[in-house]
Amino acid sequence: MDLALSGRSVLVTGGGSGIGRACAELFAAEGARVLTLDLRGDVDLRADVTDEDAVRAAVDRAAALHGGLDVVVCCAGISGPVGTPVTQVSVTDWDAVFAVNVRGPFLVAKHAAPHLAAAPAAAIVMLASDSAFVAAPGMAPYCASKGALLMLARALSVDLADDGIRVNCVCPSVVDTPMSRADLGVVEDGFASAAFPVQTAQDVARQVAFLASPASAPVNGTHLLADFGTTARSSLPA
Ligand SMILES: NC(=O)c1ccc[n+]([C@@H]2O[C@H](COP(=O)([O-])OP(=O)(O)OC[C@H]3O[C@@H](n4cnc5c(N)ncnc54)[C@H](O)[C@@H]3O)[C@@H](O)[C@H]2O)c1
Repeated sequence: MDLALSGRSVLVTGGGSGIGRACAELFAAEGARVLTLDLRGDVDLRADVTDEDAVRAAVDRAAALHGGLDVVVCCAGISGPVGTPVTQVSVTDWDAVFAVNVRGPFLVAKHAAPHLAAAPAAAIVMLASDSAFVAAPGMAPYCASKGALLMLARALSVDLADDGIRVNCVCPSVVDTPMSRADLGVVEDGFASAAFPVQTAQDVARQVAFLASPASAPVNGTHLLADFGTTARSSLPA
């Protein structure tokens, strides 16, 4: 299948690591012109997605460098406290998670939209999570932020429809990245002996590429839940 991404201008936030880096590599392999944005790492644009002035400057710079923007992928995210009962979550931690995971994609979409509106077949893809649908214990801020992100994407798809900009989310279950390795205490060993299914960042990048591609033109304001069918299964033992 031709994803028709060749020559398209793509900005990937969180492009310094994990899923964002895999997305950048896949889009580049498809012939796209990719710019990565991150707080750290070997990236093209250094910016904090929670900082409106920094986001505006970085997005405008990306559009100027490439003569426009066709696709934006919002991967920058943090997990916040993991394994912390909600009664012990500080307001500081709560706000930090929402600042990166919700305010960040809002600011990126807000400042990318004028550039994307000038492109044919523009698309924004956001990294939500299966945590928008199911909760692991001790991850209330992250789960709530991903639920909020899912609805942000739906609202954006409505607001930006007249500009021809599609907005969708991918919602993967556990992906083998530095984030999940740190959260689950397997930084060195990885997930080879995990008792649950784990996908790769490259798996997720292919899901993102489909939603970013004109191949998914009728798909808008929705999500791709990639969780190995976990949420489809009833608790009924029959
Ligand atoms: N790894 C998983 O199991 C998993 C599952 C579902 C969804 N996700 C989501 O996928 C996205 C990517 O996660 P990942 O696993 O690749 O994590 P990662 O930690 O490997 O990469 C996240 C990147 O975001 C960057 N970042 C964090 N805060 C930032 C900020 N304020 N400004 C700019 N950049 C910032 C980090 O520097 C890092 O490079 C996240 O939104 C995450 O919530 C991950």
